[in-house]
Amino acid sequence: MSIAPTDTLPERSMATQSNVRLNFTDGTKTVQVPADTTILEAATEAGVRLVSQCTVGTCGTCVGRVARGDVIMPEGRVYSLKKDEIDAGQRLLCQSHVRGDSEIDLDYPASMLDEYPVITATAKVGAIIWLGETAVELQLKLPKSVRFAFRAGQYVRMQVPGTDEWRSYSMASGERDRKKLTFTIRVLPTGVMSDYLRNNAVVGDRIEIEGPTGSFGLIDESGPVLMIAGGTGLAPMLSMLEKLQTARDEYPIRLVFGCSRETDLFHLDELEARQGFMSKLDVRVVVDEPTAVTGVLEGNPVSVLNAADVEHPLTSAYLCGPPAMLKAAEERLLELGMPAERIHAEQFLPS
Ligand SMILES: Cc1cc2nc3c(=O)[nH]c(=O)nc-3n(C[C@H](O)[C@H](O)[C@H](O)COP(=O)(O)OP(=O)(O)OC[C@H]3O[C@@H](n4cnc5c(N)ncnc54)[C@H](O)[C@@H]3O)c2cc1C
Ligand code: FES
Repeated sequence: MSIAPTDTLPERSMATQSNVRLNFTDGTKTVQVPADTTILEAATEAGVRLVSQCTVGTCGTCVGRVARGDVIMPEGRVYSLKKDEIDAGQRLLCQSHVRGDSEIDLDYPASMLDEYPVITATAKVGAIIWLGETAVELQLKLPKSVRFAFRAGQYVRMQVPGTDEWRSYSMASGERDRKKLTFTIRVLPTGVMSDYLRNNAVVGDRIEIEGPTGSFGLIDESGPVLMIAGGTGLAPMLSMLEKLQTARDEYPIRLVFGCSRETDLFHLDELEARQGFMSKLDVRVVVDEPTAVTGVLEGNPVSVLNAADVEHPLTSAYLCGPPAMLKAAEERLLELGMPAERIHAEQFLPS
């Protein structure tokens, strides 16, 4: 989180409008944005749908990157973007105003919101499987009548049973599994969802869900893929790997998966099996502490990155996990010469 850099909003004027060109991965759309209106509000009014959730600057889902122009967020508020991300051109479109014609790059196709509309539904717990000491696989079954589809990498919000609290979780299952969704969830020492999973969850429980949402996912571009996952940040990678299984076979896919401790690791068998049937997949598993687990290295997902991981100019990197790991990974990738626009990230902020 950060306080936005000092900057002032444009003066309130209904007359001043700017053209904002929105560069989706499947084409561009231009909307007129009055000086006193946010880009998200103006786009919504013009019938152009953008990924968003909270609309108050805290969830981070509406992020875009300024390609041209002066796009500002009001000073003095707390945002889910860090100062260096804002300095690098990222903006939350639900909070952003423009001063003059501008251009914003978005990491997702415009068609995504039509293909994968947000729904609310009551799901049933199909299974709760402990994947180790601190991670659980939660399977949710959707009613037959519900039409749910998502892009690998997206997430849903779920209401923790017996509470008014909602939490966000990325689908670990593939896009084709539309009726049975799988999530991998870290069970923290204390926490609303963590306590529910540890103490109360039983098969058959009903859970309200809302989604899909988020813009994280594979960008339609050919080239090697580098995935960097911290802890349960592995979840969206598993979903994306399933997609890559059929979509790509020409380029290498590298997955670096790290946890703090051996006891936090999970899905090692599954990752090994995937390497068996995905010839281009190379998995590196690391833990912070010395380890005797076969095939696991001591280190973290950032320390084991090297120049060969990004040497192909068409490499795209996908990062998911806790904010500190993401920041370190992004810095390392930039240091290794990767262009910022090829780095795509999903932060597991407390939700
Ligand atoms: C887009 C998105 C996708 C997410 N996907 C996943 C996922 O697939 N799997 C997953 O395990 N989590 C995921 N998260 C994190 C998840 O939403 C919850 O924040 C997390 O599960 C903690 O919820 P809780 O109710 O158990 O703890 P809370 O009641 O929210 O918090 C309890 C304590 O834990 C701390 N805390 C909260 N979240 C975290 C965290 N992530 N790591 C460390 N400490 C924390 C809080 O500061 C607090 O002290 C995602 C978050 C976002 C924003
Ligand atoms: S919609 Fe949540 S930060 Fe903009």
